[in-house]
Amino acid sequence: METKTMNIKIEKAKTSKIDKVDFDNLAFGNVFTDHMLVCDYKNGSWNVPKIIPYQPISLDPSAKIFHYGQSIFEGMKAYKDENNDIWLFRPLDNCKRLNISAKRMAIPEIPEDYFMEGLTALLKLEKDWIPQTPGSSLYIRPFIFASGTGFHASPADEYKFIIAFAPSGAYFSGKVKVLIEEKYSRSANGGVGYAKAGGNYAGQFYPTQLALEKGYNQVIWTDDNTHEFIEEAGAMNIFVRINDTLVTAPTSDRILDGITRKSILKIAKDEGIAVEERKITVSEIVEAAKNGSLKEMFGAGTAAVISPISAFGFRDVDYDLPEIGDNYASLLKKRITDIQYNRAEDKFGWRVKV
Ligand SMILES: Cc1ncc(COP(=O)(O)O)c(C=O)c1O
Repeated sequence: METKTMNIKIEKAKTSKIDKVDFDNLAFGNVFTDHMLVCDYKNGSWNVPKIIPYQPISLDPSAKIFHYGQSIFEGMKAYKDENNDIWLFRPLDNCKRLNISAKRMAIPEIPEDYFMEGLTALLKLEKDWIPQTPGSSLYIRPFIFASGTGFHASPADEYKFIIAFAPSGAYFSGKVKVLIEEKYSRSANGGVGYAKAGGNYAGQFYPTQLALEKGYNQVIWTDDNTHEFIEEAGAMNIFVRINDTLVTAPTSDRILDGITRKSILKIAKDEGIAVEERKITVSEIVEAAKNGSLKEMFGAGTAAVISPISAFGFRDVDYDLPEIGDNYASLLKKRITDIQYNRAEDKFGWRVKV
């Protein structure tokens, strides 16, 4: 990626925190690197981004982010290979999706070159923070929020675009037990479910807490209208293997168009696996679990990669999934991570060298 066209000013941190980090025992997303990229939207346009030391942000109490939740984000990762080369996975798709979210939330779109060149410059500066321990990576969090002020319920006139990094280990430790939700909804037709809008996640916290109290790790959301169809999980799209066919729900304005999801569909087809994008009813899954044709369920997303589901709960009954040797989850996880970490040929042209 080129970084010539824009002169991104870099203010370096006086000291680095890197020596205090235990890279062999990284949790997910709670250690941050030394610098961040900041770009302000004022007077109708985005200013050239700058890189500054990682630090708190000062905001007016009437900033619209606090009152109306005008905020969007992305989640992506940078990977370091054996030769210390740095790679991104389909980064333009994240930029495009951020702007799809921006449009829906009446936030001004970020120019693609600000996103890509800003990200590249920050990655080059923070390259020593990219972990090389197996399963670890540098989690990248680009986000935009309304910093403009006023209690009037209308879009702000000022925004901040920030990119921050967190060297991270696995999102889930161990197998995941999910609860199929019938009461609460994550999103609705005509709503903002397809956007990575902050409020989409806040709205999930309470129902997810209830599920955690019952011993589950995640909620599987069903459609808001009938609660008959499974849609996706907190930060993952959901795949179901019935006999040898891999099925996932079609994207809609209620479901996030996951980059991992669409990559898995491509890889699975490439492996000769029968793939279906179609509506999946809860009763179909329950029936398949009962008659043994439900072979696997897994979640797919940048943070968790591919997360096998060990059991699902529905109407106070738990259905265990079998442990099968030659499972699709392991095969697909290996294929996608081998591309991400530059361990295999990138036949679809997804990898981008930094
Ligand atoms: C609601 C939701 N669904 C699915 C995903 C998976 O998307 P991706 O594979 O692009 O990370 C995410 C994470 O971004 C998410 O927040």
